[in-house]
Amino acid sequence: MNRLMLATGPTLEEHVKPYGPLPPTDGRAKDQPGRLIDEIEKSGLRGRGGGWFPTHVKFRAVVDSSAGRSRISRTRRPVLIANGMEGEPASSKDAVLLAASPHLILDGMEAAATTIGATEAFLAIHRGSPVIEGVQRALAERPSGPVAITLVTPPARYVASEESALSNWVGEGRALPVHPDRPFQRGAAGRPTLVQNVETLAHLALIARHGGEWFASVGDPAAPGTTLVSVGGAVATPGVIEVPTGTPVRELLERAGGATAPVLGVLTGGYGGSWMSADAALAANWDPSSLQAGGGTIGASILWAVGGDVCPLQEMDAVVEWMAGESAGQCGPCMFGLPSLSDDLHAVAVAPADDLALKRLDTRLGLVAGRGGCKHPDGVARFVATGLETFSEETALHAEGSCSSASTTPLLLPVPSARDHFADPDGRDFR
Ligand SMILES: Cc1cc2nc3c(=O)[nH]c(=O)nc-3n(C[C@H](O)[C@H](O)[C@H](O)COP(=O)(O)O)c2cc1C
Ligand code: SF4
Repeated sequence: MNRLMLATGPTLEEHVKPYGPLPPTDGRAKDQPGRLIDEIEKSGLRGRGGGWFPTHVKFRAVVDSSAGRSRISRTRRPVLIANGMEGEPASSKDAVLLAASPHLILDGMEAAATTIGATEAFLAIHRGSPVIEGVQRALAERPSGPVAITLVTPPARYVASEESALSNWVGEGRALPVHPDRPFQRGAAGRPTLVQNVETLAHLALIARHGGEWFASVGDPAAPGTTLVSVGGAVATPGVIEVPTGTPVRELLERAGGATAPVLGVLTGGYGGSWMSADAALAANWDPSSLQAGGGTIGASILWAVGGDVCPLQEMDAVVEWMAGESAGQCGPCMFGLPSLSDDLHAVAVAPADDLALKRLDTRLGLVAGRGGCKHPDGVARFVATGLETFSEETALHAEGSCSSASTTPLLLPVPSARDHFADPDGRDFR
């Protein structure tokens, strides 16, 4: 089902043809959000950036904060940041949407900003992204309106796309997660800041046109609408698929051309997500509660099948080594805990496995989760814990000194090379 990618091309004309113009949106009045908030609430829209948090709650929190109703608000004008950073290497949905339907996202930004009373909005896309030029063209095409939209390009680091890091980058030029305040309280330059994923904003542009009931008419009632899914790994035609939430995982894999090898397990949600056994995944639907019940997580809507002649522990090892290197180095459990976790996982991934390392992993997982300033260490711990459980047979094989793979197979999970990441030396220190 296609709602987000109906346009035949990225120009304004090609966008307006299927969607029509964005209807005028009421602005915020008497320190209450504009009337679109009722439709957003009715729609049940939940954020597509990974957390699936109810969107209307965030809108109200920002307005409350800027109206002085929050504990630490400075009663300053709020600001909107559209998160198009797509920090997850296994995700491509946001780049596909930005390339195919930039005006839908820009419409969503305009509607969202007006509703919270913001006149300034920033669209964040990671530095070096191939979609930047197309977005610049789309911005140049739009008539000026009540909201000034600026394209910003923070460094391509995993944690730079976390919402407080992004707010900090827009305000101070350093993409580090900052604490203890949340962006809705004190974000970019101390202002109440609404951070929404670009796909969330594209859905919002459709809610502004068709209303909340229309939006909720498809999908799982607890998290309605359609969602983009990045499907990859051992499937015949990897890519981005739009489906109503609640679509069976089996159907998603079929739409990606089917598995190219017996599936050993699937990664759900991305590198901060959870592994599931093939059986559990095939019994689940693509919505937050069904995936959670089966031990997975929808997260950034990534479904990655691992199968064929690969060792899943070696796949995990490469990802965790990369994730450990993405720490912003501000919190001990993240800065020291993740490299230790990575070393121990490496000792298990290379047969014969180090028995003590396996025991240490167990302890370390409990020491990093929940201890960082942001959720980065939690994501890594979840990735490792669920992987060891899903691939327990492989772990046992390694303990006995063998491995089910010939180990010369190329990596199935994409891990950006250090060269890609540090091509711009300024990105190294999150500036
Ligand atoms: C380490 C880390 C990386 C993240 N990367 C992204 C990202 O690339 N894109 C994104 O939209 N959200 C990302 N998030 C989630 C954002 O912090 C934020 O919750 C989201 O942009 C809010 O938008 P939503 O409510 O529309 O989902 C990340 C979170 C963490 C902890
Ligand atoms: S947990 Fe890691 S990434 Fe998050 S703020 Fe602390 S050091 Fe930075």
